[in-house]
Order: sequence, then structure tokens, then C-alpha cells
Amino acid sequence: MTTPTPNPPRPTPRHRGTPARGRAFRAADGHTFRVRAIHPSDVPALQRAFARLTPEQIRHRTFHHMNELTTDAATRLANVAPAHGAAYVVVDDEGEIRGEARFYLDAGKPSAEFAVIVDPTLLGLGIGRALMRRLVGDARRRGLSELWGSVLAENALMLDFSQRLGAARESMADEPGVVRVRFDLSRRLPGYR
Ligand SMILES: CC(C)(COP(=O)(O)OP(=O)(O)OC[C@H]1O[C@@H](n2cnc3c(N)ncnc32)[C@H](O)[C@@H]1OP(=O)(O)O)[C@@H](O)C(=O)NCCC(=O)NCCS
Repeated sequence: MTTPTPNPPRPTPRHRGTPARGRAFRAADGHTFRVRAIHPSDVPALQRAFARLTPEQIRHRTFHHMNELTTDAATRLANVAPAHGAAYVVVDDEGEIRGEARFYLDAGKPSAEFAVIVDPTLLGLGIGRALMRRLVGDARRRGLSELWGSVLAENALMLDFSQRLGAARESMADEPGVVRVRFDLSRRLPGYR
């Protein structure tokens, strides 16, 4: 009788593959950025990007006060199962994350909830628009008819941004202080091909 061979030691978990190179675009300040799908190896870069956000941006994005993005939370953000949604990041030429956007599919409906955030030192350069273009393209390929987001009514920046990109707004009777923005994907949106 042979002695059973013990299971070989488990290798240290490694991420499968590397991030996609993504698509380059030129921002309004002349710098080139790339927009690509998020990747499991993005965890530390997501935590650094979070540390650069302002407290107000964090509250606008999460509706909560948060001091740090824990490794567990960043790991969840960096691992989005395609069956549940999609997430994209904008990276600079050093690979630092300068913007992030995602959507999660609504169960049983052709719609998804989206959110977007951009590095506070790089606002107004077209990074948010580049991210929304990728989200809208992905959502359309999946046959979705709507992307919607919940925005605090005080968040004028996001409301103006969404309106500029073609979203409609709706007040929520059951959620005072929150506005729902809706991108109707069956329509041509301004600046989208
Ligand atoms: C809202 C946000 C994503 C916009 O990102 P951004 O990279 O600055 O936006 P862009 O530069 O791509 O601008 C896109 C359009 O919105 C318009 N826009 C951007 N900021 C604006 C402002 N302060 N006032 C009016 N319009 C504005 C731009 O004019 C642009 O339109 P144009 O290209 O036709 O000129 C960014 O301000 C942010 O991260 N906010 C905090 C996070 C947040 O509130 N998220 C909401 C949760 S869903």
C-alpha cells in the first residue's frame, strides 16, 4: 500500500492575467489616460485612489462617512462578476487610478444602478465622461435599456454632469433629499456614438 501523497502546498494566490491595456483618450489638459475594465490586482491602487478623495466626494458617492477603504472592501470592488455588473477605471501613465465607475444589474430587469467618481484634482477634464461612455457601451451590449443612479439633491456637480450627458432627473417621494438620474439607453446620448 502506498502512502498517500500529501496535497502540494497551495501557491500564494496570484491574480489571473494582467489588467487589460484599455483604450487611450486625451483629457482636456492634454494628458493621455486609459480607460479599462477593473482587475483584481487593482486593490492597492483603489485604496490609494480612495485616500485622495475629499470627505464630501466620499459622502456623495457612498452616502456615508468613511475614513478608509479596507482591503476587504477594495477586494469586493475590484472583483465584479460579469453576471452581476461591470466596473471600469481610468488610469494615468503611472497606472494610478484617477476615476472609477460601475453598474450593478437589477435582478430580472433590463436596467442597472450606476455610480461614478473622479480624482478631485482632475475634475472637468473629461474623465467622468470617458467612464460613462464605457458604462453606457457595456450596458447597451448587454441589451439594457436604462442606467440609473441615486444622487444626493445637494450634489449639484453630479446632477449637472448627468444632465450634460443626457440623463433625466426624478425626485424620489420615498427618499427625500435623493434625486434619481436616468440614462435612457434607447436614445442617442449627447457625445456618445
Ligand atoms: C460628477 C463627476 C463624476 C464629474 O466628473 P468629471 O470628470 O469632472 O466630468 P467631465 O469632465 O467628464 O465632464 C463631463 C460633462 O459634465 C460637465 N460638468 C462637469 N463638471 C461640471 C460642473 N461643475 N458644472 C457644470 N457642468 C459640469 C462638463 O461640462 C462636461 O460636459 P462637456 O464635455 O459637454 O463640456 C465628479 O465631479 C465626481 O467625481 N464627483 C464626486 C462623486 C460623485 O458625486 N458621484 C456621484 C455618485 S453616482
